Amino acid sequence: MLILGIESSCDETSCALVEDGRKVLCNEVLTQIPIHIEFGGVVPEIASRNHLLKISDVVDNALKKAGKTFDDVDAISVTKGPGLVGALLVGVNYAKSLAYALKKPLIPVNHLKGHLLSPLLSYPELEAPYVALVVSGGNSYLAICHDYDEIEVIGASRDDAVGEAYDKVARTLGFQYPGGPKIDVSAKKGNREAIKFPRIYLEEGSLDFSFSGIKTAVLNYINSAKQKNIEINVDDISASFQEAVLEVLIAKSLIACKKYSMDKLVVSGGVAANSRLREILDEKAKTDNLKVYYPEMQYCTDNAAMIAAAAFYVDSIEGEELLRLNAYPGLKL
Ligand code: KG4
Repeated sequence: MLILGIESSCDETSCALVEDGRKVLCNEVLTQIPIHIEFGGVVPEIASRNHLLKISDVVDNALKKAGKTFDDVDAISVTKGPGLVGALLVGVNYAKSLAYALKKPLIPVNHLKGHLLSPLLSYPELEAPYVALVVSGGNSYLAICHDYDEIEVIGASRDDAVGEAYDKVARTLGFQYPGGPKIDVSAKKGNREAIKFPRIYLEEGSLDFSFSGIKTAVLNYINSAKQKNIEINVDDISASFQEAVLEVLIAKSLIACKKYSMDKLVVSGGVAANSRLREILDEKAKTDNLKVYYPEMQYCTDNAAMIAAAAFYVDSIEGEELLRLNAYPGLKL
C-alpha cells in the first residue's frame, strides 16, 4: 500500500511516499528555520503563509523524486494535530482537497503517533510492544506501544516540553533558534558537574515530567553570577543543564521499562537527535539487558515519512467525514 504523507504542523513543509508503513520512497522536507531565526522562534502567521506558498511544490517534488504519480498512490495521509493551528490547516485542507479530487481515502494522523512510530522506518526488525519516549519541541511523553494502534500514555510533561526547555535555555545563553542542537555542541566542551541544577522527579512513582523549573534555575544562576561578578561559562551551563534534564528523562524511561517488563526502549522526536542522550542510553543498554532504538537523524525532527508510516496503522475516512476533518492544535497522544 503506497501512502502519500503531508506534514505542516510547525516550521517544516514535508511530503513523503511510504510503502506498507516501512519503506520510504521519498521524504521531501523544506524547513523554514532560516526564515524564523531572526525572530528567535517560530512565528505562527509567517509559518502558515510559507506552508501555503510551498506545499504544492513540495508534493510535486516528492512524487518526482519517487518516480510516482498520483495514480500510483493508494491513500493520502496528513498531520491533523497537535501543532500551530494555521500551519496545520494548510496541510489538512491541501490533503482533503487532494483526496477528494483524486477520489482516494484520507488518513488523518496524530503527529505524536508519527514520532512514536518513526523508528519503524529505520529498523525493519523492530516490533511492538515497546516503551516509547517521545521528546519533541512541543511535547514530552512516556508511553507503552502495546501495538501500533494501541498506545497507552504512562507519563507526560506537566509544563514545558524537553525541546522547549532546550530552546528557552539556549535563547538565554545567546544561541540562535533552534537551540537544542547548539546546546548539544556547546555541552561537549563544558563540565557537566560545574553547576548542580535541580533534578525534578515529582512525587514518588510518577512517570510525569516537569521542565519549567530548570529553565528558571538556569536564569537565576546567570543573574546571580552577574550580580556577584562571577564569570559565566556558557559551555559549563549547557553541559550542566543538559545533564540535569537527561538524568531525569533516562531514569524515568528505565523505570518504565522495568515496571512494564519491556526490554525495548524507542526514543523519538527532535531531542532524540541529542548526542549525550544517545551516549548515556547506549551505555545503559550494554548493562541493563535493554535494546534502544532511535530514528535516523532525518526522521527525528518533523517529517512526512513518519506520518505516512503511522498512517498505515490508522483508519481512513471518506465522504462526509473527510469533508468535516479539521485541524486539532491541542491534540494529545
Ligand atoms: O520533533 P521536532 O521537530 O518538534 C516537534 O515536533 O515539536 O523537534 C524540534 C525540537 C527543538 O526543540 C530542538 O531544539 C530539539 O528538537 N532538538 C534537539 C536536538 N536537535 C533538535 N535538542 C537537543 N539536542 C539536539 N541535538
